[in-house]
Amino acid sequence: MTGQSTFKPFESLPLRGKSVLLRVDYNIPMNGDVLKDTTRIDASLPTLMLLLKQGAKITLISHRGRPKDSDESLSLKPLLPYLANKLNHNVTFETSSLITLKENLRFNPGEESNDPLFAKKLAEGHDLFINDAFSVCHRAHASTVGVTHFLPSYAGLALRQEVETLKDFIATDNRPLMVLVGGAKISSKIDVVMNLLTVADTLVLGGAMANTFLLALGYSVGTSLVEPKAQDIARSILNQAALNNVKVLLPVDGVVAQSPDHPPIICSIKTVPQDHMILDCGPETLRHIEAALKESKTVVWNGPFGLFEKPPYDQGSISLARTIGHLTQDGHLKSLAGGGDTLAALASANEIDRFTATCTAGGAFLDWLAGKSLPGLDALLKE
Ligand code: 3PG
Repeated sequence: MTGQSTFKPFESLPLRGKSVLLRVDYNIPMNGDVLKDTTRIDASLPTLMLLLKQGAKITLISHRGRPKDSDESLSLKPLLPYLANKLNHNVTFETSSLITLKENLRFNPGEESNDPLFAKKLAEGHDLFINDAFSVCHRAHASTVGVTHFLPSYAGLALRQEVETLKDFIATDNRPLMVLVGGAKISSKIDVVMNLLTVADTLVLGGAMANTFLLALGYSVGTSLVEPKAQDIARSILNQAALNNVKVLLPVDGVVAQSPDHPPIICSIKTVPQDHMILDCGPETLRHIEAALKESKTVVWNGPFGLFEKPPYDQGSISLARTIGHLTQDGHLKSLAGGGDTLAALASANEIDRFTATCTAGGAFLDWLAGKSLPGLDALLKE
């Protein structure tokens, strides 16, 4: 795993009157101008408050969405009132004041291409750079890597805490470690699964991804979502798991239907009707996973276990979230869940607060789990 957190702390620097360029991740779900989930903004507040207390002047920079060009609907302007309220300070947009929020970085193509001229322009007028956005550290962009060539660079409080938490989970002595990997595609998770096979004791595969494993093992999965070309990958994952002595749990039954809009039935994985698709894990599968969870001490979860955005196919993920939440609260488990869809499943089960830790990062969390180095972190660790 990468990301040994020997970051330079900024807290002891004399910051009175200094100008700080602060990278945050305010890429949050919105409905028009309404903020739907402020978790990421709230996570940045401790660093912001500390900087204010130390007498620094702050320029906040963030991206939002993936705009091709300037796109008014992805402006950061609607965030101003929330920030002003939380910080008890006037926060202005673009114009220089004690706290300034710059417009969406990705309106400028220089951000994603890590253009040195754009990075230099971002850095101009500032004394130091702080990155407090772990969730964007998998991107080598001007605001994560480029600016570090122009300013002394530090890690923010939220970023450091996130890295520490993740490191603790993977390095934990609290074994056995169970890893739950769901979601739609093996192809997007192969690096994650392969890397986790080097640390996990049990690997549980769920979601549509598990269908491809079942197909590779010779089961007939009807019209289920599969990646036929990934069957070899599935077999090599299973071989590697056997070599590493990792126990693999695959679904033994499923909630199946002719389509997500047809009434579902429950059947064994051995008897999925030709014209049906697997849309969620079945009760026997959940019992197997729950029994294995009770034998585990640590669990890391990424990816929902069914078509969770369409009830009733969210029930498998909700049931798992509840079991993990309970076991965590009872002190049997340390639990970590990460990724947007996974946290949405936890939120609908009302279980987020019961987990030991959650990670709002999507791509950065996956790259971390895959053992890849994150350029935004490396840039902060360089001398
Ligand atoms: C995220 O939501 O995972 C981060 O904000 C990064 O966004 P990106 O995947 O568009 O770079």
